[in-house]
Amino acid sequence: MKQGFKILAIESSCDETSCAVVEDGRNCLSNIVSSQIDIHTRFGGVVPEVASRNHITAISNVVNLALKQANCSLNDIDAIAVTYGAGLIGSLLVGVSYAKGLSYATKKPLIAVNHIYGHIASNYLTYADLEPPFICLLVSGGHTAIIKVDDYNHHQIIGNTLDDAVGESFDKVARVLGLGYPGGPKIDACALNGKANIKFTKPNETMGYNFSFSGKKTAVINYIHKLEQAGKEIPINDICASFEVLATDDLIDKTLLACKNFKIDKIVVAGGVSANRRLREVLTEKAKQQNIKCYVPELKYCTDNAAMIGSAAYYAYKAGIGIADLTLAPNPSLSL
Ligand code: KG4
Ligand code: ZN
Repeated sequence: MKQGFKILAIESSCDETSCAVVEDGRNCLSNIVSSQIDIHTRFGGVVPEVASRNHITAISNVVNLALKQANCSLNDIDAIAVTYGAGLIGSLLVGVSYAKGLSYATKKPLIAVNHIYGHIASNYLTYADLEPPFICLLVSGGHTAIIKVDDYNHHQIIGNTLDDAVGESFDKVARVLGLGYPGGPKIDACALNGKANIKFTKPNETMGYNFSFSGKKTAVINYIHKLEQAGKEIPINDICASFEVLATDDLIDKTLLACKNFKIDKIVVAGGVSANRRLREVLTEKAKQQNIKCYVPELKYCTDNAAMIGSAAYYAYKAGIGIADLTLAPNPSLSL
């Protein structure tokens, strides 16, 4: 592939409309993210129909801005990439249709990207020297998994959540505490001012590398309800700090165990929950004690963005994978 290969990438799988121009899979020339958080906050979560309508309104401006900021025109672009799953069907459809239109009009190749491969690739944008193999801890609103990444395009899931995703449990606990949506950043901020001094009735842990968050979430919610019923004050900050410990300790321990058992000395954290301060700090520190290097993405690449899709697309295209045509359809339940 030529040096300076530029991919224009589009991401619209949930409530962020994003477009980026990424050069050679590593160099982010622009990454525009138009967030709908303010719109969905009043509903307490993402409303799919509202999300698709807002993607339609935003996408042209977002693409034009990404080209402008990268100092490019469409003529300078070598390929178009788009997230085609997993995600909300209506939201995905907007990005996929727009990317197909661009590809058809410009006669540039179209690359279909799995959103989760994008999250993993977000670290390639942050760390120029990072290469597989590594153990990836994937923690987002829809996924929680330990993935053995053998090569850019070869992954093996070695642990998964048996019920809720970790981000989902942050969002639900935040909702019960009345902190609003998205809950993760709100819990993170409150935890900073709290003490992890509450021991929740801990559910039985699952075996192996698998996770369970449903029981943990319920334990915290029951604790809050009991205080409410007794008319007692809710120590929001301490609950947040204690919940963070409950939610992240298992992630940290099992990721380190996977490194030990597979003899891999690199951990890569990916997905929205990788923005969590405690997870970043404690995992990095514990990994260091075991001579394992821990990579966490820059905060701007933690949550959904198109630059990560451009990076994943580059490595797929280089290997002849993911090349799509106008029959490309969104797949809301695309697996890894
Ligand atoms: O990866 P992402 O942007 O979207 C999905 O692909 O799911 O992840 C969104 C999730 C939400 O559940 C949000 O609450 C969580 O990431 N999140 C956080 C933090 N920032 C975002 N969770 C904990 N701490 C944070 N600082
Ligand atoms: Zn995501």
